[in-house]
Amino acid sequence: MKCKQRFSLILAFFYSALLLMTENCLLSHKIVDDCGNVGLLWNCSGFNISKLPTAIPSELENGTVTLDLSFNLFSNLTEETFQQIAAYSNVTSVILHHNYITKIENKTFRKLSNLCSLDLSFTLLEKVKLMQTHFLI
Ligand SMILES: *[C@@H]1O[C@H](CO)[C@@H](O)[C@H](O)[C@H]1NC(C)=O
Ligand SMILES: *[C@@H]1O[C@H](CO)[C@@H](O)[C@H](O)[C@H]1NC(C)=O
Ligand SMILES: *[C@@H]1O[C@H](CO)[C@@H](O)[C@H](O)[C@H]1NC(C)=O
Ligand SMILES: *[C@@H]1O[C@H](CO)[C@@H](O)[C@H](O)[C@H]1NC(C)=O
Ligand SMILES: *[C@@H]1O[C@H](CO)[C@@H](O)[C@H](O)[C@H]1NC(C)=O
Ligand SMILES: *[C@@H]1O[C@H](CO)[C@@H](O)[C@H](O)[C@H]1NC(C)=O
Repeated sequence: MKCKQRFSLILAFFYSALLLMTENCLLSHKIVDDCGNVGLLWNCSGFNISKLPTAIPSELENGTVTLDLSFNLFSNLTEETFQQIAAYSNVTSVILHHNYITKIENKTFRKLSNLCSLDLSFTLLEKVKLMQTHFLI
């Protein structure tokens, strides 16, 4: 019994350490995106990340979500980049300004079926290439 308790205590410790490490993005309620949708903001701005945290807060489940990923190290957006969050939340706005994005692969935003606002300013994308890329829908 004692051993079991100690074991779960250790587990709890590791779990909370993991939470601290992965859930450092900030959650705000009742934000209005560029399209007028009222929802939640998951703010990962300035965390030096190149992909989304895999631990998504439960508050975001089925919620209308704005994702602020500005001032990070995203470089190559692929079909996988938003796969997990797209299955979990209704993302209407993605903010990616000030990243090192050079490439957006086909189907990157396909699963974000309610995406209404996308900020790709201050990235390394070339405007001409962007116009030719069939990455939306
Ligand atoms: C997603 O959010 C938008 C804006 O709030 C809403 O119009 C739409 O019905 C939502 N879709 C789903 C599947 O929840
Ligand atoms: C996210 O947080 C940063 C500060 O860390 C702030 O400057 C920015 O405005 C926030 N994003 C939104 C959409 O409010
Ligand atoms: C991000 O990286 C920069 C440059 O290495 C550093 O100055 C900054 O403190 C880092 N920020 C975080 C939140 O780790
Ligand atoms: C989210 O939506 C799924 C599919 O419609 C449903 O099974 C689940 O119970 C919902 N979760 C919450 C927290 O509303
Ligand atoms: C982008 O990422 C995909 C999948 O991780 C990889 O196959 C591809 O080579 C990467 N492209 C660049 C330019 O880094
Ligand atoms: C991306 O889509 C475009 C237009 O449908 C197509 O021409 C191109 O070959 C695709 N690229 C890849 C790597 O599948």
